[in-house]
Amino acid sequence: MRLFTAALACSVLSQVAHAFYLPGASPHSYKDGERVDLFVNALTPMLAGTDDSKLKSLINYDYYNPLFRFCEPEGGPKKQSESLGSVLFGDRIFTSPYDIHMAKDNNTCKTLCLVPDVDAKEAKFINDRIREDYALNWLVDGLPAAEMKIDLRTNDTFFDMGFNLGNNEGAHQNRPALNNHYEVVLKYHKPTVDTFRVVGVLVWPTSIGGAQTATPVCDAAGAEPLILNEDRTQAIRYTYRVTWSESDTPWATRWDNYLHIFDPKIHWFSLFNSSAIVIFLCVMVSMILFRNISRDISRYNDTDFSEDIQEDWGWKLVHGEVFRTPRNPLILSVLVGNGAQLCSMVGVTLVFALFGFLSPSNRGSLATVMMVCWSLFGGIGGYFSARLYASLGGQNRRKNAFLTATMLPTFIFIIVFFLNFFLLVAKSSGAVPFGTMVTIIVLWFGISAPLSTVGSYYGSKHGGIRNPVRVNQIPRQIPPSPKYLRPWVAAILSGILPFGAAFVELYFVLSSLFASRAYYAFGFIALAAGVVALTTATVTILFTYFILCAEEYRWQWRSFLIGGGSAFWVLAYGLFYWATRLSLESKTSMVLYLGYLFLIAFLDFIITGTIGFIASYWAVRKLYSAIRID
Ligand SMILES: *[C@@H]1O[C@H](CO)[C@@H](O)[C@H](O)[C@H]1NC(C)=O
Ligand SMILES: *[C@@H]1O[C@H](CO)[C@@H](O)[C@H](O)[C@H]1NC(C)=O
Repeated sequence: MRLFTAALACSVLSQVAHAFYLPGASPHSYKDGERVDLFVNALTPMLAGTDDSKLKSLINYDYYNPLFRFCEPEGGPKKQSESLGSVLFGDRIFTSPYDIHMAKDNNTCKTLCLVPDVDAKEAKFINDRIREDYALNWLVDGLPAAEMKIDLRTNDTFFDMGFNLGNNEGAHQNRPALNNHYEVVLKYHKPTVDTFRVVGVLVWPTSIGGAQTATPVCDAAGAEPLILNEDRTQAIRYTYRVTWSESDTPWATRWDNYLHIFDPKIHWFSLFNSSAIVIFLCVMVSMILFRNISRDISRYNDTDFSEDIQEDWGWKLVHGEVFRTPRNPLILSVLVGNGAQLCSMVGVTLVFALFGFLSPSNRGSLATVMMVCWSLFGGIGGYFSARLYASLGGQNRRKNAFLTATMLPTFIFIIVFFLNFFLLVAKSSGAVPFGTMVTIIVLWFGISAPLSTVGSYYGSKHGGIRNPVRVNQIPRQIPPSPKYLRPWVAAILSGILPFGAAFVELYFVLSSLFASRAYYAFGFIALAAGVVALTTATVTILFTYFILCAEEYRWQWRSFLIGGGSAFWVLAYGLFYWATRLSLESKTSMVLYLGYLFLIAFLDFIITGTIGFIASYWAVRKLYSAIRID
């Protein structure tokens, strides 16, 4: 019976999963000769093939940016609707004039259009984009057009999404050649005799120069490349040829070729590395803490002993101070509340990702789920913030509720707005459109902020957590503490370990964010996130113990700082990544990179700081509940 229920639950779950997959995941079956739409997405800078190549820009351009002069469909291109996350991550999808019919016109050379008058300014713009390794991104039936490549480490072939706008390698270093002919290979699968499904889209772009008005032959062999002159008006002819080939890849696994994990060994290595760090840490921390604390506690609680000669020492000395209200309890509780909201968002998103709901076939689903989760978890933020504020002895509940709902989002919104301004000036398509801005504001003020207020209400109703020991009337003097326990030094020192546990994954995350490489090693990143959380918690507890032993009782802000210490290393690593993997030429790209990097580090600071603070709070309460105070 139980088995049956489980099976039923599973099948219901998979139904739900299926519904969740829509619309990307229900197969589109074509009939023989049915029109197959080709959509064009924004142009993105791409890492050229070689291992030591660098990314040269961070700005996306609309396919129909007037300076490119690409062929437009009759009646003008039409914008396709997209999800919130897809828009945020830069997708701008339009219709195109390519005329493709399922399994028809095999191997026919076709002219897309002839652009008779590309002027010098446009030619320079195109050449500059070729020099920066821009790639075209097409979509056919939801599948991105790709170039077939070979992973040199394993000799596996895989599909690398996007293909070059032009060629600037070797002889073309100074005279870039524009690719104006596309060899398109469309792979289809026939589950039944008269249904056709698209299961692969490959493009080999080439450059065919010579007289652009002659009859097209679509033959790149022997043809001279098309090099645009930057000082006169010229013609460009775009041609394409579609080859249909039957494939035995079924529709369900058509993404497998695209989802190529480069060098899975390095993920395993990173995981092994971080697990070693965690085990080492946990053993060390538990040894230090258990040995010392149990000795301390038995000595503190040994009445005969303490009545006669024993004076209090170490962390027991500050028992009347540890729960003294820290400076700025309002800001601290607002940060922790928002941190808790972000932590829950990350946790739930990773769970979704682990179950495969966020595969790249669902464009933008990752960012959409994150935004929606963040809005829905406003209540968690409000609740944590209000309860912590009450526990820290804060009085101004309304101010706390208000700041929890608004402070952090406003700050982030200002940064995003500022970056968006730069994107607009650079005429990039990456700028967040007005409508999307409005959607985000609605999510924030319509869902997150009200939920946060409700959370705050319940948080204040439940009130603060009772402290296990009383706070003295008069604050103690604090002796000077050792150098390594000064707040910033301690933060930077303690940040090394969580960062060390995750920096390999961080490399992949940065590459997928900036070099538009899809990221799908979600199993690895979920484990890495778990390891980071554990490491942060243990290191912070350890440092808090040291701080209290040094009779420094202002541990609250320090534990937040120490927990967030990894943000410093994330920032440093981001700069290192810039130095080694990017060669940004425009000021806009630099500002964008620094802006995004700062945002990532800031969010990391809030999240890990919150983890550190909550872990220390728990540990301090445990510690002081265990001793007897006379
Ligand atoms: C298209 O042509 C290629 C080679 O020219 C051939 O292998 C393929 O089977 C053809 N496809 C169809 C649907 O006729
Ligand atoms: C990959 O193929 C090349 C030539 O075909 C061969 O020399 C090389 O050893 C292969 N590498 C691996 C890892 O199989």
